[in-house]
Amino acid sequence: MSPIKPIYASFRSIGAYAPEKILSNADLEKMVDTTDEWILKRTGIKERHIAAADEYTSDMAAKACELAIERSGIAKNKIDLVLCATVTPDYFNMPSTACIISDKIGIRNVQAFDISAACSGFVYLLSIAKAFIESGMKQNVLIVGAEKFSSIVDYTDRSTCILFGDGAGAAIISATSNKEEGFIDLHASADGSYADLLITPAPGAIHPASQHVIDTGLNFVQMKGNEIFKLAVKTLTNDVKEILAKNEINPEDIPHFIPHQANYRIIKAVGDALKMKDEQVVLTVGKYGNTSAASIPMAINDIWESGRLQTGELMLLDTFGGGLTWASALLPFAGQAINK
Ligand code: COA
Repeated sequence: MSPIKPIYASFRSIGAYAPEKILSNADLEKMVDTTDEWILKRTGIKERHIAAADEYTSDMAAKACELAIERSGIAKNKIDLVLCATVTPDYFNMPSTACIISDKIGIRNVQAFDISAACSGFVYLLSIAKAFIESGMKQNVLIVGAEKFSSIVDYTDRSTCILFGDGAGAAIISATSNKEEGFIDLHASADGSYADLLITPAPGAIHPASQHVIDTGLNFVQMKGNEIFKLAVKTLTNDVKEILAKNEINPEDIPHFIPHQANYRIIKAVGDALKMKDEQVVLTVGKYGNTSAASIPMAINDIWESGRLQTGELMLLDTFGGGLTWASALLPFAGQAINK
């Protein structure tokens, strides 16, 4: 009997979508008591994209998915799992946004579901795709992080409305027998005792939709920004140090460090702690703001489209978000590079 060949999960393609409308810091100056200078200095954000009133999470996700599928060269009928990470689903209860996306892109009769892990959603999806593929249950998994964060932001609250943007990023994760193409390592974790640091209190079983919810703004995101900032720097730094040490990889050998794009100061602090050079660290927060589950795939898409991401090159992903959740991943880009 021949031995069973191991199966690995490989990152085959990337696609992303940012809505057309741009909300600049100058626009926000007219809406709340803030300045372009304050926002830039404290967050590094210059502008963010905002979906149109009739453009939903599933619409943005479908556009990113179509690109990722086309770039993978894998036929739609070979995709056997569709996963969406979002905290701004089209519907809060049912159906899942993954089901709606599947319908919009013409993939039917395959398993589809959503996960909720806030800004860590995309790396959580990688862990799920990896498990399904390495167990032999699925072959080609379409994953997408998508958010219409503007639908839960209070545009009279200056402490949150300056940070977030809308968008989507998708990838195809496929089975391979080539170990060189496979994910190297992935770590995902959570600590629910910090749940109140970043929360959208309603609608949900605790606060179902009501006039009270509307009158008190419980349907908007609430954040303890300063506490999150400190925890984010500490957790992200420890997480990447751990995954690099475990795999005996030096920070200087990482060509693409792609952290969650929440705040330039958080990214800079983590990059400095790892003694990374600026050219190793991918930065898109200035033009997209924090797009939650879409942030990391939108950043990967940026370096792919600009020709910076080559086949076989190592990506180090690192993320942090509501829950609290956090995750990191070390993996090569196993898709086709763009020739620029
Ligand atoms: N414009 C002008 N002033 C503002 C402001 C704004 N948009 N938002 C807050 N301020 C004020 C505060 O009212 C406070 O004023 P005070 O000193 O008179 O009380 C002052 O700025 C400092 O507030 P603080 O909250 O301590 O600022 P900060 O340096 O921590 O920056 C964040 C605020 C939100 C930018 C920062 O904490 C942050 O990015 N946190 C992480 C958020 C995050 O990543 N969330 C998502 C996790 S995935």
